[in-house]
Amino acid sequence: MGVPLLDLKGQYAALKDELDAAAAGVVEAQYFINGPQVTAFQDEVAAWIGVEHAIGCASGSDALMLALWALGVGPGDEVVTTPFTFFATAGAISRLGGVPVFVDIEPDTFNIDPDAIEAAITPRTVGILPVHLFGVCADMDRINAVARKHGLWVVEDAAQAIGATWKGRPAGALGDAAGFSFFPSKNLGAWGDGGLVTTTRDDLATTVGRLRSHGNFPRKYHHAIVGCNSRLDALQAAVLRVKLPHLAAWNEARRQAWARYRALVADAGLGDRITFQSVPDGAVPIVHQCVIRLPRRDDAMAFLKDRGIGCAIYYPLALHRQACYADLGYADGSMPRSEQATRDVLGLPIFPEISEAQQSEVVGALAEFLGG
Ligand SMILES: Cc1ncc(COP(=O)(O)O)c(C=O)c1O
Repeated sequence: MGVPLLDLKGQYAALKDELDAAAAGVVEAQYFINGPQVTAFQDEVAAWIGVEHAIGCASGSDALMLALWALGVGPGDEVVTTPFTFFATAGAISRLGGVPVFVDIEPDTFNIDPDAIEAAITPRTVGILPVHLFGVCADMDRINAVARKHGLWVVEDAAQAIGATWKGRPAGALGDAAGFSFFPSKNLGAWGDGGLVTTTRDDLATTVGRLRSHGNFPRKYHHAIVGCNSRLDALQAAVLRVKLPHLAAWNEARRQAWARYRALVADAGLGDRITFQSVPDGAVPIVHQCVIRLPRRDDAMAFLKDRGIGCAIYYPLALHRQACYADLGYADGSMPRSEQATRDVLGLPIFPEISEAQQSEVVGALAEFLGG
C-alpha cells in the first residue's frame, strides 16, 4: 500500500471548512500584513506556549536571526551550537557575522552535549544556541548553568519543538529567547513560511518587534536602528489560529504513534538493531520526527523506498563539515558522534493521522530488510 513520510492532506480534510473560511476572511478584509489576525495569533500562541512575549516573523530561520540580532550578535562573536541540526541554526549566527562554534552531541538524545560546552568557551563567546532536535528538549538545566557561570545568554532553537516541555516548563521559555518555525511540515504548520520569536524578556521583545520592521520607531518612517522586513502574513496567522487549538491533540497523537513504533519494533524482535532517540528524564517530546538508528542505513532507505515507504535522512552532513564552513577548520572526525549519527539515522513516516496498519507496514519492511 505504501506509506508517505508525511501526509498533510488528512489534516486539511479534517479542518477544511474552518481553514477555507479563515483564508477567505483575510482575502475579504484585504489586510495582508500585520493587523488583527497577526496580533490575535501572537497573543494566543504566547498563552498556549506559556511565555510572556511572542513576535511573529517570516520564518523560523529569521526568528533565530532576529533573536540573536536583538541580543547584539555581530562580527566575530562566537556562539556555541550543535553541528547535528538543520542548517538554519548555524546560518542565523553566520548571517550576522558571528561564528558558530560547534560542540558534539550526546549520541542517545542527538542534542548538544552540555558537558562539552565549557571547553568551547573563549573570551569571544557571547551565547549558546541549543536545538531541541526532533522535538526533544536539550538538557536546559545544565546548559543554563554553564551560561550563568560564564555570563552568556541562551537562545533555544525550538523550530521543531512547539509544545515540548522540560521539567514542566515549555520550550520557548527556557532561555533568553527562542525561535519557532511554522514551515508546513512542522507540528504547527502554516500554508507557507512563518516563524515566531518568543522571549521572557521585555527588552528583547521590544527590540525584535522593531528589527522585524526595519527598525521603524519611534514613529512610522523614522528609523532609529537598522532592521529588516520579516513579518508574519495575516493569511498565515489566520491559518495558524485555526490549527492552534488542535496542536495539543496532534502532539499527543504523535507521541502515541511513536510509542506504537517502539512496541512494533520490540514485537518484531528488532530491538537490538533499531534504536530510537532517547528522551531524558523530565522532557516531554512532541515527536516532530521519528528518527531511528539502524545498520546499513543507505541500503535500508533504498529498500523502504522501493516498497513505497517514505523515509528521509535528518541530517546527511553535519554542519561543521559543510562547504561553507570549510574556513572554520573542523577536520573530518572532529565531531565523531555527530558524524556517526549522519551515517546511521533514518526518519520514518510520522504524522498525527498515521494508522496502526501503516506503522505495521513500515516495521514489517524493516523486519524484512534486517532479516534478509
Ligand atoms: C532545527 C531547525 N532550525 C531552524 C529551522 C528554520 O525554520 P524555517 O524553515 O521556518 O526557516 C528549521 C526548519 O526547518 C529547523 O528544523
